[in-house]
Parts: sequence; structure tokens; C-alpha cells
Amino acid sequence: MSKEKKSYKKVTTNSLFEMKQRGESITMLTSYDFSLARLVDKSGIDVILVGDSASNVMAGHETTLPITLEHMIYHASSVIRAVERALVVVDLPFGSYQGNPQEALSSSIRIMKESGGHAVKLEGGSEIVETIKRIVSSGIPVMGHIGLTPQSIYKFGTYAVRAKEKEEANQLIEDAKSLEKAGCFAIVLEKIPASLAKKVSESVKIPTIGIGAGPNVDGQVLVLHDMLGMNTEFNPRFLRRYLNLEELIPNAIMDYINDVKSGSFPSEKESY
Ligand code: KIV
Repeated sequence: MSKEKKSYKKVTTNSLFEMKQRGESITMLTSYDFSLARLVDKSGIDVILVGDSASNVMAGHETTLPITLEHMIYHASSVIRAVERALVVVDLPFGSYQGNPQEALSSSIRIMKESGGHAVKLEGGSEIVETIKRIVSSGIPVMGHIGLTPQSIYKFGTYAVRAKEKEEANQLIEDAKSLEKAGCFAIVLEKIPASLAKKVSESVKIPTIGIGAGPNVDGQVLVLHDMLGMNTEFNPRFLRRYLNLEELIPNAIMDYINDVKSGSFPSEKESY
């Protein structure tokens, strides 16, 4: 398959489908605010995920469960104001879609109307097929998310790799097929064995986007703050750090403190 890259003016769900067909890897990162989303979009990322990981990264919660629909709309609308090219996908937060398809549709409509996001993401497999159909039938693109689904952390009891056993692995393949049939345009595969992720990716025509799912998927996603090294205590095996902001930011701030204390800032040139 050709790995040739095509430059899209605005990335759409169709562009992602074409990328899979051409064998071009899809890139996705999270963003939750205007300033960083602007830089992420300018760098040429294909998809920006306004993830409910904002609950951890932005608000300091231990899990993704506390974040609300209102918070997600606030983060997503800040991101949307910054983005010119990327497709912006917004997580439906815990408690905003599990009740029934109508509740899920109402939450999705609020996200689309109030934030201007381009698509929503939901966690779950075959059990949420009716919900996905309901949202897609109203014209809202849906991204699926299976494997380790952090909103179910209290059911799992651990953030360990999922679907290592045959039964769960087979179920995961069935879930991916059901999500495709229900109308999802892509599926996130989180923390599953690389060999299983490869099988899933070969079993569906829609793109798979992995996090901790190895190289044989159609794209990769990371949490922006993790790959920029904002918190080096979080150290999962799948994470590659491209910067060490946990060191660089305090160094810059210490320089500023020293400059102010010593009287070297502001200089004459920096004064009116
Ligand atoms: O919320 C999030 O950041 C996510 C990614 C880990 C895929 O769902």
C-alpha cells in the first residue's frame, strides 16, 4: 500500500477513511484549550480530541468520571475557536449517554450546537449499538472507543491491558464490527495487545486509532500533556515523550523570578 501523504484543507471523516485506504497513518492528539489547540492545529495534526481526560489533566481528578457535559462544552468551544484544519472530536462524558439513546442524542446535540465540535466519541461496544445508531441517524458523526475504557475503571478495577484472554479478545473483535455496522466513522483501541489490534484493524473498513495498541493500527493518539512531558510521574509503557515540560517550565519561571528579584527585568528596552 502507498504511504503517500495527501494534504487536506479541512480534515473530515471521509478524509480519515481515505487515509486508511491509502495506508496513510492518522495522527490524533488531545487539546482542551484555545492556546494549545492553536499550536496543535498549526502543526498539522489530523484529529484533535477534546477528551474527557480533561478531568485528569486540566482539573486534577483521579478519574474521568467527574467531568460534566457543561465542562466538555466549555473545553470544546475553546478548542473550536482555535482550529482551522483538524477534525475536532468531543468526548461524551460519563453519565451523559449511558441512560438511553435519547439521552445520548440530546447530549450529542448540545455538544454540536453549543461548542461547534465536528463529531462525538463514546466508550463501549455492542451494548451501545442502538445509542450510536440514534446519534448517527441524526447526522452526528460518532467515533467509538473500546478496550480499556476509562469511564468503566470501577468495573475493571485496574488500568491494566485489556483483552489478553481469548474470550475478551473475540468479544472485542465483535464489538469493533458492531460499531462499524452501527455507523461509527472510526474506533479508538486503548491498551490492548498489538496482535489483537492488528486483527481488529483488518476486520473493519473504518480506521482504528490506537493508544497502547501497538503499530498495526490506522492511526495513533496520545494525551497532549503526556507527550509534552508535563507530568513525568505518569509513565505507561506506551507513552513516548517529545519534550520535558516538567523541567522546562519551572526553569523558565525560576529565570523570571531571579530576573525580577535581581532587578534585571524589566530593562529600559522593556519599559515605556
Ligand atoms: O479522553 C481521552 O484523552 C481519550 C484518549 C485517551 C483516547 O479518550
